[in-house]
Amino acid sequence: MNRLADKTAIVTGGAVGIGRACVERMAEEGASVAVLDLLEQEGRALAASLAAKGHKVAFWAVDVADEAAMKAAIDAAAAQFGGLHVMVNNAGISGSPKPTDEVSEADWDRVQAVNVKGVMFGTKHAIPHLRAAGKGSIINLSSIAGLIGVGNLAPYHASKGAVRLMTKNDAVTYAPEQIRVNSIHPGYIWTPMVENHLRATSPDLEAAKVAAGSVHPIGHMGEPDDIAWAVVWLASDEAKFVTGTEIVIDGGYTAR
Ligand code: BGC
Repeated sequence: MNRLADKTAIVTGGAVGIGRACVERMAEEGASVAVLDLLEQEGRALAASLAAKGHKVAFWAVDVADEAAMKAAIDAAAAQFGGLHVMVNNAGISGSPKPTDEVSEADWDRVQAVNVKGVMFGTKHAIPHLRAAGKGSIINLSSIAGLIGVGNLAPYHASKGAVRLMTKNDAVTYAPEQIRVNSIHPGYIWTPMVENHLRATSPDLEAAKVAAGSVHPIGHMGEPDDIAWAVVWLASDEAKFVTGTEIVIDGGYTAR
């Protein structure tokens, strides 16, 4: 219950899906949690329901691709909760499923803006607060798409590969300051992002869910908590010697 007592965390994309599970599990483990998301209604409702249960959770409406807005929200969260110890760069979009010869420049740019620039802005503006705390943990959500090719999603794969190596670069950069940086690589997790992706690729959502589940040797998709528990661990001092690593949570997808 208290694995994150006295810690403050920020979760981008924290209103739904994996981010939401991270917010819930970290708050239950004693962290103060700032939810940053574009989805204002969902974010405010989540913060209110957790606050009603006695947790310290607040919401800021932010587009992670907007540097000034990110800096303002991160500084405000650190001020409100008295410092910052954990930055979860989770916000991400999949882009439109298309072969590369049909990808538009606009789709490419938006995916990189959210998935890559968003991680960079989150890291850049969290660092001064983590440094002030004397240590910290940055957790970047990459994907199995940052490790292998799945097909018809070039902007997403490019962005998640970038997050994987930005993580390792930053792990080396900030290790002397006891700021750890790790990436997580989920397989298909049942979230609004995956639901929207499956709706865009198949007329039959239920059949698409079964098909997406079956590519994992374990036989089904994961759920947001399967990722959130790894985030709790990486955020905690239990993982104090863990940096620059990639944690694959994919039901065996990439084991073949
Ligand atoms: C939500 C479910 C939803 C699913 C697919 C999950 O993160 O908790 O309510 O059905 O995503 O969108």
